[in-house]
Amino acid sequence: MDVAAAARSLNHVAYGYISSWSVLTASTLGLFDRLPATVADLADEYPDQGITSTWLLVLADVGVVVENDGVWSLVEPLDVLLTGEGSYAEYLGGQIIDQMTPRLMLGRPGVNELARVLREPAERGGYEAWFADDQEARKYQASQFSGSVLPGRGIARAIEPTGPVLDLGGGWGAVAAAIASRHDVEVDIVDLDPVVASAPPQAGVRFLPGSALDPATWPDGDYDGVVLSYLLSSVPGEVHQPLLEQLFARRVRWIAVHDFMLGGGSLVAAWSLQHAVFVPGHVSRTIDDVASMLTTAGFTVISSVPLVDDMTTLTIAHR
Ligand SMILES: C[S@@+](CC[C@H](N)C(=O)[O-])C[C@H]1O[C@@H](n2cnc3c(N)ncnc32)[C@H](O)[C@@H]1O
Repeated sequence: MDVAAAARSLNHVAYGYISSWSVLTASTLGLFDRLPATVADLADEYPDQGITSTWLLVLADVGVVVENDGVWSLVEPLDVLLTGEGSYAEYLGGQIIDQMTPRLMLGRPGVNELARVLREPAERGGYEAWFADDQEARKYQASQFSGSVLPGRGIARAIEPTGPVLDLGGGWGAVAAAIASRHDVEVDIVDLDPVVASAPPQAGVRFLPGSALDPATWPDGDYDGVVLSYLLSSVPGEVHQPLLEQLFARRVRWIAVHDFMLGGGSLVAAWSLQHAVFVPGHVSRTIDDVASMLTTAGFTVISSVPLVDDMTTLTIAHR
């Protein structure tokens, strides 16, 4: 690669935040629900047509919208993902722009959080510290629910539970609700107190306070299987192996691990980094690492398949 090509490729990455910022801002402002529209149609909310047009041009450059005779529309099939109640835009415009992005870049005014924790990793407080603020926990979980509706359906389709399911770190239950409704089984979620205390009810789902790190806080029931969706990314790496062993000891028949696993797509490292910035002792795992930990714990890996395109892998293992 010559210097000009290398610089072009570097700039594409270095300035990619501008496109990202434009897409996330459109999500948080609900722009996608207002399309198709001309910039004049949007002037009630965005009165300066110059800046509105420039914003739309950035969105067009990254393939989100398209312009025809002055009318801007979402590129199909993004209209399915980005519009309506509980859409993926609510996730991008909620947790991602308001919570994840500033935590990674500017956790405190004027402080580059990544630069800070690279030098002082012990400063990370994890989800416990983050969710000590009830409002933050509630906002995060409302948005996470929208983000996990589609992966939740994918997980539910991939398993065949014949009895109660334990979902450790299940949040407000997008995955659990999908499993409960598809298979007509009870799902118990164990998550941090501020999360379960604020969770809206879901049919077939029980919300129980506890910690994935402390089996003494898990319910006593006999579970057919266990779901860990994004849990390994959310807890220190040193607990991964013991956690899987404790679950095997609970005699579950199957386990479904859904997470960012290296080798599972071009956005995996980026998403792992977003967690590494605040989860103490975070360790990025490869698809093979997860399989090997499951095998060491006593499980037999049945399948590892991509779930969220370019981001997550779903690994299913049986005892
Ligand atoms: C990225 S969210 C995923 C939520 C849900 N599993 C899903 O797929 O939508 C990570 C979840 O892990 C939970 N969590 C983090 N540390 C935990 C712990 N020690 N015990 C239980 N849950 C924990 C967080 O509260 C949060 O709900």
